[in-house]
Amino acid sequence: MQIHPFVRSAVLLAALAALGSPAFASKEKPVVGISLDTLKQERWQHDRDTIEARVKALGGTVIATSANGDDTRQVSDIDALISNHVDVIIVVPHNGEALTRAVEAAKEAGIPIIAYDRLILNCDIDLYVTFDNVKIGALMAQYVVDRVPKDHPGRIVCVYGAQTDNNAKLLKQGQDSVLLPLVKAGKINIVHADWAADWNSENGKKIVNAAIAKSPQPIDGVVASADSVAGGVCQALLEEHLAGKVIVTGQDADRAACQRVMRGSQTMTIYKPLKQLADYAAQAAFDLAQGKKISAPNSIDNGFKKVPAVFQDVTVVDKDNMFSTVVKDGFQKAEDLK
Ligand code: GAL
Repeated sequence: MQIHPFVRSAVLLAALAALGSPAFASKEKPVVGISLDTLKQERWQHDRDTIEARVKALGGTVIATSANGDDTRQVSDIDALISNHVDVIIVVPHNGEALTRAVEAAKEAGIPIIAYDRLILNCDIDLYVTFDNVKIGALMAQYVVDRVPKDHPGRIVCVYGAQTDNNAKLLKQGQDSVLLPLVKAGKINIVHADWAADWNSENGKKIVNAAIAKSPQPIDGVVASADSVAGGVCQALLEEHLAGKVIVTGQDADRAACQRVMRGSQTMTIYKPLKQLADYAAQAAFDLAQGKKISAPNSIDNGFKKVPAVFQDVTVVDKDNMFSTVVKDGFQKAEDLK
């Protein structure tokens, strides 16, 4: 059933009003707002659940909203969290450049902001917790170039992520650092490259369809920037009877992607230990809500200031180490990957 956006907002506001009030929040038991871009991709459900579990274990409460990939809705979600006097907001922006005003409003209300895995640009945020996306991009590209045939220049397709997401640009930067010198040396060809709007699987499929239509010779590898788009990439290859014959990357270790890796249609994914990120964000949310100073090992310029930043480590995963990494950590269950 389609729910009209105004009805959804009204339901959200009613839920917020019921859940919390200024009297409910306290420094010892803060109310943590979470504003998500979307819950359509598996990983963000995982992130939300893990942050919520940690906040509750610490004694706090969570109010989570999801904007369904809509900038206007994400701004009104954040406004609603502000009106509800949450103590701190953890934000996964749909569009890193569209939340300046909403973040300013939160700051005016004295509410700290944590950018969670995606940077929010040009505004005053308190902390950025993430993974090193430039490194992830380089790891994906290196995985492909190491494995494509060497008897001809490898024919490679790049499926970048959403252009509205700063991560997609950082991933491309990492990919380019590996691919462009090899293009220059005549060792590989990038036969087609495009951005998959909203990290959507269907858009990933369209890009590979276009690449296959355009390239007279079979492609050797697809550098797909995340598992969500890799799903569409593998579908396009399957329809062309190319599944398993082309190297395909991804990231997130989503269940469907890990299944594809074990079955051979996707070659690798990158495991990002979301629990570490979520636990860090939850603890930092508490510290900020309680007025403690946050110290972080790194910093990153978001166009407004040098934002304290934390980068968690990642692991390249393929069939060979799936069980000793993703499964061992309990991130995916062995029985789900058969
Ligand atoms: C990116 C993130 C990826 C992936 C993607 C699609 O921002 O870095 O890990 O989750 O969003 O949701």
